[in-house]
Amino acid sequence: MTQTLFDDIEMTPAIAVNGGGQERERIARKFAPLLREEPRLGSLVAYGGNRSVPFLRLYRYKEAFSFELVREFQRRFALTPADYVFDPFAGMGTTLFASMLQGMDSIGVDRLPIACFVAQTLPKFLSCQCGQLRAAFERLVRIVPEIEPAPAAMDVAIMPLAFLEETRLELCRWKAAIETLDGDLRDVFRLLFFAILEATSFTSKDGQFLRLKRDKVTADPTDVLQQKVAEAEADLARAPRLFPFWEQAKNHLPTVCVGDTRDLTGTPFRRPPTAIITSPPYVNRYDYTRSYCLELCFHFIRNFDDLKAIRFGVLRSHIESKVGSDEQPPHPVIAEVVDALKPKDLNNPRIPLMLIGYFVDMQKVIAEWARVLARGAQVAMVVDNVRFEGELVPVDLVLSEMAESVGFRVKEIIVTRYKGNSSQQMKKYGRVPVRESIVVWQLEG
Ligand SMILES: C[S@@+](CC[C@H](N)C(=O)[O-])C[C@H]1O[C@@H](n2cnc3c(N)ncnc32)[C@H](O)[C@@H]1O
Repeated sequence: MTQTLFDDIEMTPAIAVNGGGQERERIARKFAPLLREEPRLGSLVAYGGNRSVPFLRLYRYKEAFSFELVREFQRRFALTPADYVFDPFAGMGTTLFASMLQGMDSIGVDRLPIACFVAQTLPKFLSCQCGQLRAAFERLVRIVPEIEPAPAAMDVAIMPLAFLEETRLELCRWKAAIETLDGDLRDVFRLLFFAILEATSFTSKDGQFLRLKRDKVTADPTDVLQQKVAEAEADLARAPRLFPFWEQAKNHLPTVCVGDTRDLTGTPFRRPPTAIITSPPYVNRYDYTRSYCLELCFHFIRNFDDLKAIRFGVLRSHIESKVGSDEQPPHPVIAEVVDALKPKDLNNPRIPLMLIGYFVDMQKVIAEWARVLARGAQVAMVVDNVRFEGELVPVDLVLSEMAESVGFRVKEIIVTRYKGNSSQQMKKYGRVPVRESIVVWQLEG
């Protein structure tokens, strides 16, 4: 018996944490020797660690993992500038940014345009001089009151509710003013602009959705943008000291592609990547196109139809995902979970479909990696297990078995932390910790 990170629960993690049926017991027993706890990594699998990292702190992509986690796996994998790093779910580009700063070439793919934009823009701070952002801000602040407001996708339901009318107009003026800048400076200011939308709105990215909080005290756009500029200037001043390869990093700018990692056919790899450090969307009903709706509406989409196209183009990890009636669970554990859920009174009847869609997609994704990676390439992927109506889904183990079937060797499954369940679920089914793990695989040579 092992003492788990939940200090009041004693269990053999591999078995007790999975539970719930023959297939889940089988897979738990199979991978038990490779499972180990490493609580030190628990704080690194979330964005929190980036709050003190220059540039990464400027825009909160809350599903990101931390810069330090990437550094940790660069070390464990003994990566050198000869490696070529790939993040197939790049998000804000933490892996790409950390690779660039170690002198490694890298490439990332993400389906969400705001994520790709941030990943592409963070390295552009390298081309900014100290004082340049402050000077540009001072020029812009003078033209904002006069400029014609830029358009935004106002037919998306949350937009008219998210801001005071005068704030929205001021934001649209700021957006128009920023568009008068050129090149990298314009992108850097766009990023700072996206970074102030939450603070200036009645919304909060604190759950599965973008929540409307009518009683929230909202910030003035010009004031918060000025603060962001000051933060960015402070980062420019300290970056060369904190990042020893800051100057050389310019020669290793990452390639970022808006794309779908389920099909990497057109991805412009320079050569087969030698490492993946990544984290996919979790199968938890969470819809990125809702959380990042304001950013999308201000810049990346023209209307609601465009938003829906992105919503249904991402990995099927959320409840609205479309799943064909002919699609079947692609793995025996998922078939078992889906069967177990059938008779239950689910709070959302689409949960079994979401599970099928998610694992069909992830199977394709893993097969693509086996196709494009260099032999011997190493993979570290952060994943979250889930539990619906008492049924545990050992995502880490299922994906690992899928990986084995296309030629990866599962080296270890590191449990970084355990999460509880919703209070409703705990009341009904008891407190069962659910793993957040890092699966470590290697493509057989
Ligand atoms: C957990 S986040 C990754 C965060 C990233 N590790 C970081 O540090 O920012 C998962 C990402 O997968 C992206 N995604 C969803 N479906 C995708 C797809 N089909 N192809 C590529 N990326 C996708 C989401 O937009 C999201 O940015």
